[in-house]
Amino acid sequence: MNTTATVSEEQLNDQFTYIDAVASLVRDKRLRAYTHTFGCQQNEADTEHIRGMLHEMGYEMTDDVNEADFILFNTCAVREHAEDRAFGNIGSLSHLKKRKPDVIIALCGCMAQQEKNVEKIKKSYPQVSLMFGTHALWRFPSLLYRVMSGEKRVFDIGGEDDIAEGLPILRADGAKAWLSIMYGCNNFCTYCIVPYVRGRERSRRPEEIENELRGLVASGYKEITLLGQNVNSYGKDLGIDVDFADLLRRLNAVPGDFWLRFMTSHPKDASPKLFDTMAACEKVARQLHLPFQSGSDEILRRMNRHYTADSYKKLIAYAREKMPDITLSSDIIVGFPGETEEDFEQTLRLVEDTRFDLLFTFLYSPRSGTPAASYPDNATTAQKQARFERLLRLQDGIVAERQAAYQGRRMRLLIDGAAKGPDYPFTARTEGNLLVCVRGKGLSVGEFVEAEIEKTTLRCLYARKL
Ligand code: SAH
Ligand code: SF4
Ligand code: F3S
Repeated sequence: MNTTATVSEEQLNDQFTYIDAVASLVRDKRLRAYTHTFGCQQNEADTEHIRGMLHEMGYEMTDDVNEADFILFNTCAVREHAEDRAFGNIGSLSHLKKRKPDVIIALCGCMAQQEKNVEKIKKSYPQVSLMFGTHALWRFPSLLYRVMSGEKRVFDIGGEDDIAEGLPILRADGAKAWLSIMYGCNNFCTYCIVPYVRGRERSRRPEEIENELRGLVASGYKEITLLGQNVNSYGKDLGIDVDFADLLRRLNAVPGDFWLRFMTSHPKDASPKLFDTMAACEKVARQLHLPFQSGSDEILRRMNRHYTADSYKKLIAYAREKMPDITLSSDIIVGFPGETEEDFEQTLRLVEDTRFDLLFTFLYSPRSGTPAASYPDNATTAQKQARFERLLRLQDGIVAERQAAYQGRRMRLLIDGAAKGPDYPFTARTEGNLLVCVRGKGLSVGEFVEAEIEKTTLRCLYARKL
């Protein structure tokens, strides 16, 4: 049975009416909009929809917050640091609001889905006139219209776990595009706020995804990243016989020269079928982001992750057997409540044995409302910090070794932007998503080139176009 609700055409048409209504207020005024996104790619993809709606309303986009008439922060609640930065940014706008009382300051995203933040904004940040959560994103036109027609402050943090298809979108220029395939998360890892602020898992229909991909390829995008909090459980709610591997195969068949990436995978649902499919699909990049969080089985159990260090290693071994040149990255949390030195040593061992190309390491940040926030914790901040630094040092050594192994290799690169230095004026990515700075004649963004790696550092490979 299909358990996923879709926002009805009628509801969406209603919002398009509000886009027109705002447009009639914006017309001839040359109003400008500024957006800033915190958090993950999902949030970046959401901001592109909001920018799309703003664009349809007649706003011009600006990168300068001081010249904006509409300012939006799309926020992240995953760690305290992300929340602090959002509050800091909004706080610093109180002067601007005094100077320009007509400016509309809005806040949306994951922080806006939490009651405690809504209360805080209501009480201490009067400069914010509009706040809406992740579930209300598609209602943005009607909410903005209410503010523009004189309502002092508008808050909308309600909403269902549904999917809105056909919203306008304004994507960033360049070679890369995000493509959401599902929303929400059902996993409830005990440290994580995401399931509370993003709702339950819901998948887009495969034909909608394929159509969007065809459009992206036709518009010249060359690197398309499929997004979901746990892409491996794609399709479970659709009531049709399709899983993530099937979706990959279907998308791989879309004609064109492009790379498909995806994130994030959860080790409990990553299957040999997935790796067999990746290996068989030439457009699916040989790259895997598979967060393991901790190398200790006891910590993994208390994190509610449903795999062990050993089963994780077996998955990686299988993926490497099928795709020997695959690039691997992972997320790790250091200092989960109750983590002992021995638990942490097991994380180090997993890192040492697996030899990742890239690691994202985080100090555990308690999130109120999650189970782990009330778990007893023995380690001090200094001890956690010391563990964190040991992990970084270990990983730096591994990265140096892995990067150096690319010296002299010939590789296919996708040029994706301008670099800072004059010697290597462009940035690019390998199929494995490693960062490269490139030199050579006739380079342009969005092009695949053959290149030879001339030197390597911890952060970057340096290459010459052949
Ligand atoms: N859905 C993805 C990740 C989403 S959040 C997945 O399951 O892999 C991205 C990363 O933030 C997580 O992988 C985890 O390492 C980290 N993270 C999540 N909650 C955290 C917390 N409370 N403190 C520190 N890091 C956290
Ligand atoms: Fe958070 Fe776990 Fe869901 Fe990832 S899988 S978003 S870490 S609850
Ligand atoms: Fe942050 Fe929300 Fe993403 S909490 S990590 S922006 S899903």
